[in-house]
Amino acid sequence: MWAFARPLADPPIASRHSTSCLYLGGPPGAGTTGIPSSYDAATTSFDHIVDHIATRRIHIRSAAQNIPTLHFTLQNLTMQAVSNKLAERLGDAPTVVGADYKPRADGSKMKALAWFGARDVRLIDAPIPDITEPDDVILKVTGTTICGSDLHLYHGEIIQLQEGDILGHEFMGIVDRVGPNVHNIQVGQRVVASFQIACGECSYCKQKLSSMCDRTNSSGLQNAMYGHRDAGFFGYSHFTGGFPGGQAEYVRVPKGNVNLLPIPDSVPDEKALYLSDILPTSYHAVVDVGVKEGDVVGIWGLGPIGQCAARFALMKGAQRVIGIDNVPDRLAFAQKSSGIEVINFAEHTDVVKRIQELVPGGLDIAIDCGTFHQPKTLLHKVEKALMLETDVSEIVNEMITSTRKMGSCGIIAAYAGYTNHFNIGALMEKGIRLIGHGQAPVHKYWKEILEMIETGKFDPTFVLTHRVPLEDFPALYASFDKRLGGVEKVFVETKFSAPPSHGAPKLSRVAEWGDEVYKV
Ligand SMILES: NC(=O)c1ccc[n+]([C@@H]2O[C@H](COP(=O)([O-])OP(=O)(O)OC[C@H]3O[C@@H](n4cnc5c(N)ncnc54)[C@H](O)[C@@H]3O)[C@@H](O)[C@H]2O)c1
Ligand SMILES: [Zn+2]
Ligand SMILES: [Zn+2]
Repeated sequence: MWAFARPLADPPIASRHSTSCLYLGGPPGAGTTGIPSSYDAATTSFDHIVDHIATRRIHIRSAAQNIPTLHFTLQNLTMQAVSNKLAERLGDAPTVVGADYKPRADGSKMKALAWFGARDVRLIDAPIPDITEPDDVILKVTGTTICGSDLHLYHGEIIQLQEGDILGHEFMGIVDRVGPNVHNIQVGQRVVASFQIACGECSYCKQKLSSMCDRTNSSGLQNAMYGHRDAGFFGYSHFTGGFPGGQAEYVRVPKGNVNLLPIPDSVPDEKALYLSDILPTSYHAVVDVGVKEGDVVGIWGLGPIGQCAARFALMKGAQRVIGIDNVPDRLAFAQKSSGIEVINFAEHTDVVKRIQELVPGGLDIAIDCGTFHQPKTLLHKVEKALMLETDVSEIVNEMITSTRKMGSCGIIAAYAGYTNHFNIGALMEKGIRLIGHGQAPVHKYWKEILEMIETGKFDPTFVLTHRVPLEDFPALYASFDKRLGGVEKVFVETKFSAPPSHGAPKLSRVAEWGDEVYKV
């Protein structure tokens, strides 16, 4: 009943079965990972995969140097190929929106950032989207950025990625075109998009739980793995619907009536952009885990999400906030800008012991704002490399053992699949309330946070460290991944952006951030 009957005059692009080859003029019949469509993951030999890698120009300088790269690439290729094949066999789940967009009749092109493999993202010329369904809005992007979640894609750790997928789920812009069913958004308006595509009408959407929308994600594979599926997300693989993202000059926003928030003139782009994701996400974590007056809160991971969660925890009355990370710049930044206590896990390798020294009774609340693709222990490194687990539960175990009996632990960091050695005993015996916060329901919070910004109660620019041009995206991925140049949150400008607002970072090039910064 929900299946969308597509009234398109022109062939759409970027669907699961019509990959990047349409952007790139690639050979017809190329499959989901660029491997010929006859490719069968279950039967393809090792030699075929190695051949494929060789044709993808992976430079082999010496065997010793490249064994880790080769292994990583093989692991990744296999994971993507198998998941795409499996998804094809399972078929699409029904949705009320199509992910494909219709190119403009004049064939005009835009710059966009696309995924081509693990640690391989490129700027491409892609067709500018046109109104494809009557509820669509097309935005000229004036501000976009990179998120820690994009790093999971960069590492190829989220399944169902396809070559040529346009990435980016946090963006804002000026309305360029609106479909005939769009009544509350006008051409020329400044708006922020939520990272999720909600239908606005299902039972979850009615409660503003927009990330949980039942009707916008076509991934039958996610349905099979999780029992249900998230909403569709922009630029976040076909596991979340395969919608082209906003790390681009233009983007199509399906269901524009509900997925865009108009921004008042008094709020500059640098303050508004982060309503797309990191502000509602970090606020949701703090609210959902239940931080209250007097709590002692531990925050694992001091990227943009952890830094904002620390601020929101203090705003909710936390008595102490302790941040855990191993990046010196990020630890210093959190201490200086938010006045929280920190633990460098490179110095204090036993994090639980250190927390017990600082807080003898244990934390009231722990929040995971870290990342699942950085195992610390050899055991998890080996198991992950051998694909015996997809995700690492080290942080969750540390949280459970550092938190007081009957305390609460929340997971806002993204996880994708399965993990080993989870300390279920401590969870049960200590009565820990472990909460998966889900992908954050942006619609539930964005108006409340916009008001905090307008009234000066919360200024998101504290976490904004750099501004770079769209052309720098490939270098930005590499540098953000390595947390170089003191990077926290970045504002990425396009040719449509206004000049930096008062007090916001000036334009820089990633190559100028420092000597060790990745250059392309
Ligand atoms: N649920 C949602 O809606 C949602 C939305 C946005 C981001 N996220 C997730 O939130 C997490 C944080 O996002 P971000 O943009 O701040 O990412 P980020 O990658 O910039 O920051 C992650 C930080 O975790 C640290 N870290 C890694 N291993 C650690 C460990 N064992 N202990 C403590 N710290 C550790 C890293 O050094 C890094 O500073 C990511 O997993 C991201 O995918 C979730
Ligand atoms: Zn994000
Ligand atoms: Zn819905």
